Amino acid sequence: MVAMQTPIEALLEEGRKFAPGEAFIQQANVKDHSIYEKAKQDLEGFWAEQAEQFVWFKKWDEVLKWECPWAQWFVGGELNITVNCIDRHLKTWRRNKAAFIWEGEPGEERVLTYADLHREVCKFANVLKRLGVMKGDRVALYLPMIPELPIAMLACARIGAPHTIVFGGFSAESLRDRINDAQAKVLVTADGGWRRGNIVPLKRNADEAVSQCPSIEQVVVVHRGVMDATHVPLHEGRDHWWHRLMEEAPLHCEPEPVDSEHPLYILYTSGTTAKPKGVVHTTAGYMVGCAATHRWIFDLKEEDVYWCTADIGWVTGHSYIVYGPLANGTTGVMYEGSPDYPAWDRWWSIIEKYGVTVLYTTPTAIRAFMRQGEGHPRRHDLSSLRLLGTVGEPINPEAWMWYREHIGGARCPVVDTWWQTETGMILISPLPGVTTTKPGSATTPFPGVEADVVDEQGRSVPLGGGGYLVLKKPWPAMLRTLYGDPDRYVQIYWSRFPGMYFTGDGCKRDKEGYFWLLGRVDDVMNVSGHRISTMEVESALVYHPDVAEAAVTGKAHDVKGQAITAFVTLKAGVQGTQEKVDELKKHVATKIGPLARPDDIFFTAELPKTRSGKIMRRLLRDIAEGRALGDTTTLADPTAVQHLREMYEEQEA
Ligand code: WTA
Repeated sequence: MVAMQTPIEALLEEGRKFAPGEAFIQQANVKDHSIYEKAKQDLEGFWAEQAEQFVWFKKWDEVLKWECPWAQWFVGGELNITVNCIDRHLKTWRRNKAAFIWEGEPGEERVLTYADLHREVCKFANVLKRLGVMKGDRVALYLPMIPELPIAMLACARIGAPHTIVFGGFSAESLRDRINDAQAKVLVTADGGWRRGNIVPLKRNADEAVSQCPSIEQVVVVHRGVMDATHVPLHEGRDHWWHRLMEEAPLHCEPEPVDSEHPLYILYTSGTTAKPKGVVHTTAGYMVGCAATHRWIFDLKEEDVYWCTADIGWVTGHSYIVYGPLANGTTGVMYEGSPDYPAWDRWWSIIEKYGVTVLYTTPTAIRAFMRQGEGHPRRHDLSSLRLLGTVGEPINPEAWMWYREHIGGARCPVVDTWWQTETGMILISPLPGVTTTKPGSATTPFPGVEADVVDEQGRSVPLGGGGYLVLKKPWPAMLRTLYGDPDRYVQIYWSRFPGMYFTGDGCKRDKEGYFWLLGRVDDVMNVSGHRISTMEVESALVYHPDVAEAAVTGKAHDVKGQAITAFVTLKAGVQGTQEKVDELKKHVATKIGPLARPDDIFFTAELPKTRSGKIMRRLLRDIAEGRALGDTTTLADPTAVQHLREMYEEQEA
């Protein structure tokens, strides 16, 4: 069985090692350790050399200004990221190279060359201007995985309007909260999207959200075609069809020069409270960091067909479908739908059809494929693949080995990449031509990245030990603040250990200095690689009129990494029936989005609390995962938790 609960001690005994093959090294972008040395000796010079490769309207005066925790990179520089992601390539043979090869879930195909992308981005930038969007205004995007999504992002960047993308799996309420926090002026959405043959009702959710978003002045609707256009209600004076606006839009749009530190986007992510955090990324450092990591970690070549399977609604899509790859002039595959539609071999057929060479995906997807057996990949020619990557959660060695053998034909290096929405770029990962990999380890920090493992007091833990993962030096793509809440930025990331960035992840290092990520140490769950806070789900639950109290915990799950388990106390007189369970699950999905639907809801008369009234989530997790109960001495009523466990086990059985 997939051993998600593998104790770290067992992981550290993982003896398998895979050194890069001679043939791979021969052709690799990075062949030796010299860039690690270079970055160590002169961090600023190292990143400046990367930045030199781009087009600047005005060159920077200073590479880095670091007044912990406030960073500025390429200070005084002026640029436009779309010039670097698009215009720059038009003067080369890449003009007619595919930027995106897109496939819709029902099977349509669309190819956008760099010249096509330029035209569409300029036109939509003009549309945004016509709708009154000015430099600095926020634009919200709530779209399926269709080419209009990167087009809209880049159009925003072209005119200096930060975008804020809300993943299509979020509910109307989540969309509303994010729009209101960002005070977005325009929303771009679609009639709907396809997911496993079902319609995702984006426009309906958007209408519900926008009715409570006073900042939204205009809504642009892409006709994805999941509904007949005449059945899509358009609000007079507010809603416009994308295709109508584009018909009239001029083809030329001058790129707006922006400061290096001009905000490129806000992306909301879950933290330890119920309120999502608006992570702010700026322009120059982000671009340079994404491009360099993309080129070196994925060993990107001109002729590669690169496919990152993430949704652009998450940071992985921002950095490694759009900005990093386009900055490198990459051909990227984009797929709209679900991996099991119409069958479990959809991805393998896409790889075969387009000759994908580099695949970047998640451990959850790999584990789901493992369950379906190797027959599906075996039926397809996957020989075009030459490198594999994973991201989003710890990968168990079994899944890593399965990926290597059954997808990579035992010939492709596997890069397990650790990073976060906040870090903007990959920070811990192998370099495939240099690093000897070990299944289950993200290996070592990227050149110039100073990661450490520290104890409660912030003291570095010697090799072989575990603790909290921290970062001790700034990196170019780091978040700059939380939107509208600089104090929270300081408090969450920089206060736990003064002078260090606190990642919220637990980590062990083996004797050779390899990093083994252990998952979150705070109240954040990682469900299929998606970050969801226990507090968000709890507050959605207690919003239900029948719920008195709720405590939520992540429970180890063979495929998803973690599954959401909720312990709920109902109000007096309400029956804890199966119907109530279903109703509450649906309620959470409506409040937050289908991705936050609890797997299990367990009713209890009482939740284990400390004498001061704090819910002991740690104990609930022990119960949910069937472990011996941890320390119960601080509980107000230690017998209650025993009782709770017995009831839980009864209900499970
Ligand atoms: C987890 C996704 C282990 C980690 C890019 C982190 C990982 C959180 C890995 C960020 C990995 C991401 N190994 N754990 N290779 N990559 N994580 O913000 O807990 O959606 O803090 O960014 O995912 O999730 P986020």
